[in-house]
Amino acid sequence: MIADILRKIQDRKARIGVVGLGYVGLPLTKEFINAGFKVMGFDVDAEKIKMLKKSKSYIKHINSSLLEKMNATGRFSATDDFSKSSTCDAIIICVPTPLTHNREPDMSYIVSTAESLAPYVRKGQLFSLESTTYPGTTTEVLCPILEKKSKLKANKDFYVAFSPEREDPNNKDFSTSTIPKVVGADTADSLKVAKAMYDTIICRTVTVSSSATAEATKLVENIFRSVNIAMVNELKLIFDKMGIDIWEVIEAAKTKPFGFMPFYPGPGLGGHCIPIDPFYLTWKAREYNCSTRFIELAGEINTFMPYYVIQRTLEEMNSRGMVMKGSKILLVGVAYKKNVDDLRESPSFMLWKLLEEKGAKVEYHDPFCPLVPKTREYPQYTGKKSVSLKGKKYDVAMIATAHDCVNHKEIAKLAKLVIDTRNAVPKGRNVVKA
Ligand SMILES: NC(=O)c1ccc[n+]([C@@H]2O[C@H](COP(=O)([O-])OP(=O)(O)OC[C@H]3O[C@@H](n4cnc5c(N)ncnc54)[C@H](O)[C@@H]3O)[C@@H](O)[C@H]2O)c1
Repeated sequence: MIADILRKIQDRKARIGVVGLGYVGLPLTKEFINAGFKVMGFDVDAEKIKMLKKSKSYIKHINSSLLEKMNATGRFSATDDFSKSSTCDAIIICVPTPLTHNREPDMSYIVSTAESLAPYVRKGQLFSLESTTYPGTTTEVLCPILEKKSKLKANKDFYVAFSPEREDPNNKDFSTSTIPKVVGADTADSLKVAKAMYDTIICRTVTVSSSATAEATKLVENIFRSVNIAMVNELKLIFDKMGIDIWEVIEAAKTKPFGFMPFYPGPGLGGHCIPIDPFYLTWKAREYNCSTRFIELAGEINTFMPYYVIQRTLEEMNSRGMVMKGSKILLVGVAYKKNVDDLRESPSFMLWKLLEEKGAKVEYHDPFCPLVPKTREYPQYTGKKSVSLKGKKYDVAMIATAHDCVNHKEIAKLAKLVIDTRNAVPKGRNVVKA
């Protein structure tokens, strides 16, 4: 059985299925197509399937011309019909893993994907989970569902692996294929098949001894970021009081060639990963009577940051004889980080809400996000549009995300006061870093 799938992978005859055609699934699809495989994409969002068929992009950095090229190979198809998964030799799952309202892991996407695939599992297939999740998900959640309906045994009749996704959307230095990929599985055969598959598209695969180790690796990477960002956010508050510029300090500190890695403060954490993933471990750790104090503390500090930015804005307005109530405020950047169109968990929305609660009139400017789509937490902003800045004047411009394509120096000229949370404009009479 193993020789079959290995040969198919080697000869690029294996058909790859990618479930979840979002920020992670689409770039992966592109890589497998480029490597010569046939790829079938699966998604529950029928609108996305339609758009893909017409080579219409819904993710800025996987643009329409890339989709046209993929479609032109004749080796890409997209469907919401999961019965077709039985025609795939390897199936990669990259569906969302958010938190519930109670801040617990929301496994519903992984569970429903497994349930959709389960009736069509056949001997010799490989299933690789890429969604970020707590250690144990592959063996405790995914495998039992696939086994139950198929009456087949995981790691015996079909292969299973976990390989965390390290995609960094729009990173100019690294892309899916040039980021080393960790692969873990619970048997030598499953690991061999998964490694063989990823070796065809990734510069280097790093194997670990179990799926849980691979799941833990991803969480460690994101906890590392969350904790370090919280540390510089806290240092920002302290240095601000001392009249020291944290960004200048970091620039100087990073000249040390060893033992230091720069992290930068901001208005709070955003994105689908860093604010969420650490709490997957917190939840699982409870099962072992362990507390995750670093994670909790980092979460507390990072969650406080938007409140700090508003507090500093109020202080600065006050000292200049300005009043928040009724003031015109321009929020610059609503994406969660620069140069992407992803709004998930963006702290900009919390800033927006807090400013409005204090009576400010808020407009936003973000060329990457011309329209605010429906979001779970902030439905009140659905349909709001990025404003053109021509002829505009504001009391305050608050830079929350600093895209490279935005001229922040020009924006600073439009406002009496600039609150710069990203070190985007040089120091000036009307510029306050917060
Ligand atoms: N976005 C990133 O930069 C990034 C980086 C590393 C890891 N991850 C992880 O990868 C996973 C996917 O994230 P993403 O950013 O690609 O999410 P996404 O929301 O961009 O894409 C997920 C896709 O899955 C689809 N989907 C939802 N339920 C489904 C189901 N039952 N069956 C089939 N399709 C379904 C959605 O319609 C969507 O198209 C998450 O676990 C995330 O934490 C994301």
